[in-house]
Amino acid sequence: MRIRKPKITDINAIHQLIKPFAEARRMLALPLGNLTERLRDFLLLEVDGELIGAVAVHIVWEDLVEIRSLAVRPERQKQGYGSALIDAALTEAREIGATKVFTLTFVPEFFQKHGFAVIDRHELPHKVWQDCTHCPLFPDCGETALTRSV
Ligand SMILES: CC(C)(COP(=O)(O)OP(=O)(O)OC[C@H]1O[C@@H](n2cnc3c(N)ncnc32)[C@H](O)[C@@H]1OP(=O)(O)O)[C@@H](O)C(=O)NCCC(=O)NCCS
Repeated sequence: MRIRKPKITDINAIHQLIKPFAEARRMLALPLGNLTERLRDFLLLEVDGELIGAVAVHIVWEDLVEIRSLAVRPERQKQGYGSALIDAALTEAREIGATKVFTLTFVPEFFQKHGFAVIDRHELPHKVWQDCTHCPLFPDCGETALTRSV
C-alpha cells in the first residue's frame, strides 16, 4: 500500500472512483473541472500500482482545513484503507499548520470513529457555504458536519 500525491494523469481515474458514489448520492459530485482545480488537494492510495482510494485536504480559512471526497473502491472496503486515508489526511493537515479540520459527510459514524465530533453546520465559516451554494443539493444535502482538532 502506498499513499502519494496525484499527477495530472490521475485525474480521470479519480473521477471514475468518485462518480459511482456521487451518482448513488453517497457523496457529492465532483465535476472534472473542479477536480482538476482541486487536484493538488488530493492524496491517493494505491496497491500494486492500482488506485484504490482517495481523499482531499482543502485549505479553507487560516488554520482550518476540510477533509472531502473520501472514497475507497467498493470491492476494497473494510480492509482499513479508508482509515489509512483519514490518518494521512490528518497528518497532512497538521503538517501544513492547520489546528482544526472539518468534514461534511453522509457517513458521520465513520468519522466519529476517527475522533470527529458532530457540530451544527452553521458553526462553520461562511466561506464553506460559498461552495455549497454551487451544489445542486443545496440547501438540503443531508450531510452532517463534524470537526476535530489536529
Ligand atoms: C467511508 C469509506 C471511505 C470507508 O472506507 P473503508 O476502506 O471501508 O474504511 P475502513 O476499512 O478503514 O473501515 C471501515 C470498516 O471496516 C472495518 N475494518 C477495517 N479493516 C478491517 C479488516 N481488515 N477486516 C475487517 N474489517 C475491517 C473498520 O473497523 C470499519 O468498521 P465499521 O464498519 O464498524 O466502521 C467507504 O465506505 C466509502 O468509500 N464509502 C463511499 C463514499 C463515502 O461515503 N465517502 C465518505 C465521504 S462523504
